[in-house]
Amino acid sequence: MVCLGNICRSPVAEGVLRKVAADNGLNIKIDSAGTSNYHIGANPDSRSVKNARKNGVDISKLIARQFKVSDFEEFDRIYVMDKSNLYNVLKLADTDERRAKIKLIMDELYPGKGIEVPDPYYGYEDGFQKVFDMLNLACNKIVADLKENA
Ligand code: 4NP
Repeated sequence: MVCLGNICRSPVAEGVLRKVAADNGLNIKIDSAGTSNYHIGANPDSRSVKNARKNGVDISKLIARQFKVSDFEEFDRIYVMDKSNLYNVLKLADTDERRAKIKLIMDELYPGKGIEVPDPYYGYEDGFQKVFDMLNLACNKIVADLKENA
């Protein structure tokens, strides 16, 4: 799960996917990262933590890190939140196999529509609930598909 800072959107995506996977008895490796180095070592934004907690997901202990090229080897799928993240991660992918792993997360629900999970960092409080709702839907779809194809 990849966004810009790894403190607002992708930690929520990681926390929600962990919860939905566990609830469905799915044992998969999950992590999140940011394309930037802005917040390396930081816990998620307090507004993200508070909103996720309100929705039953604890992301308070996560620690931001930067996306690295070796993630292409560590993970089968790289989900990005928006087109800027997509561009930045694609720039680091030097093979077709690696490029094929990268996907806008909302494309799971709405293939080819190019829908982005909006950056809530400079926005209002309700942006965090919108992010949570979008990611909750996407993660449920991801897990349902993984179970179907298991
Ligand atoms: P995120 O949100 O990419 O969802 O973690 C942001 C966090 C920090 C900044 C931008 C977006 N920033 O510019 O510091």
